[in-house]
Amino acid sequence: MKTRVVKVDAEQPDPAVIEEAAEALRAGKLVAFPTETVYGLGAHALDERAVQKIFDAKERPATDPLIVHIAHVGQVSQCASAFPANARKLALAFWAGPLTLILPKKPSIPDLVTAGLPNVALRAPAHRVARALVETAGIPIAAPSANRFSRPSPTTAAHVKDDLDGRVDLILDGGPTDIGIESTIVDFSVDPPVLRRPGGLTFEQIHSLVPEVVLVTGQGNESEAQVAPGQLTRHYAPRAELTLFEGDQSGVVERIGTDVRTAVARGLRVGILAPEEDLKALAPLVASTAAAGRVEVRPFGARRDVERAARELYAGLRDLDASGVDVIFATSPGREGLALAIRDRLARAAGGRIKRSFNGQGSDPSPAQNQRGEGSDP
Ligand code: TXA
Ligand code: MG
Repeated sequence: MKTRVVKVDAEQPDPAVIEEAAEALRAGKLVAFPTETVYGLGAHALDERAVQKIFDAKERPATDPLIVHIAHVGQVSQCASAFPANARKLALAFWAGPLTLILPKKPSIPDLVTAGLPNVALRAPAHRVARALVETAGIPIAAPSANRFSRPSPTTAAHVKDDLDGRVDLILDGGPTDIGIESTIVDFSVDPPVLRRPGGLTFEQIHSLVPEVVLVTGQGNESEAQVAPGQLTRHYAPRAELTLFEGDQSGVVERIGTDVRTAVARGLRVGILAPEEDLKALAPLVASTAAAGRVEVRPFGARRDVERAARELYAGLRDLDASGVDVIFATSPGREGLALAIRDRLARAAGGRIKRSFNGQGSDPSPAQNQRGEGSDP
């Protein structure tokens, strides 16, 4: 199949382009499109053969359910058999936006979409192109992130083409996405409701409106994967082996410095994904004769600029992979606000390789510091 890429204005999408894409979706074809979070790979959610194409194109296991995109809150009743008051409250406050609600499904939603689960994940995206598409198509659109399975999510049309060229009919290119990290998933099929995946909408924003929503500790570990299929630890993995460093700034910088020296001495090429302040502290090492030409750095905004870090996270991982590094060292932005989602994706990409360093407490973490249980220092 030949993949067509069509440019579309992110603010004022051309109705003719949207109509063509909507028609392709209604006809059972695959269309990749920008949302405010990441690019999605869309198919007619009620057409099982179209949905199967998503799994084939992505090489995604059938055990990983898809998010169904709708135009507005009024469409929930088409897909879900119940809409608890607190879920409705969140939808009214945060849709259209980066929030996905898990609700009991209606029989009209194919089992393939929900991986056999009795619940469906619903989201009304805010991006003008995505909105115009669901409105014009007049059907719910199943759309996972438009990456090959286990690759970082795409935040540009070029990322989608890199992963899915020849596997998707049409890619709508609306430029880089705004948030850069996937939607927040809240599961209302259980009581109390559970935040299954931190994302573009912060836990604090959700909690302030619906305090019942709980954040499960150990977010993203293997036992969590059993509860929410698809939340596998190595879900967002770059090709290079990634290690996540967390702790206080001086502890982290010192520890990365030590590990860079060791890696370079072993003949490895190293990529560093860190805020500008950390990179500045590491600059003399990176420029040193031993490390010269063997270390790629990718700035990640300033320490306080988590919006930018979220926006650039996946492109940073893809760039470092493309530059051919063997290992990636990334620093954790913390757990507040949007940082929780960034840290979650980095922890998954790290697949358990998390090193905690606090200056003054020694650089090797004691088991007591390893509270969240993502795995220990290798
Ligand atoms: O921002 C986003 O949510 C993007 C854009 C395209 O909307 N989509 C996205 O989809 O991130 P995806 O497929 O990469 O992630 C969907 C995840 C699944 O892996 C699974 O963890 C969860 O949503 N999910 C979907 N349906 C579910 C269900 N019925 N029960 C539990 N979890 C579900
Ligand atoms: Mg995905």
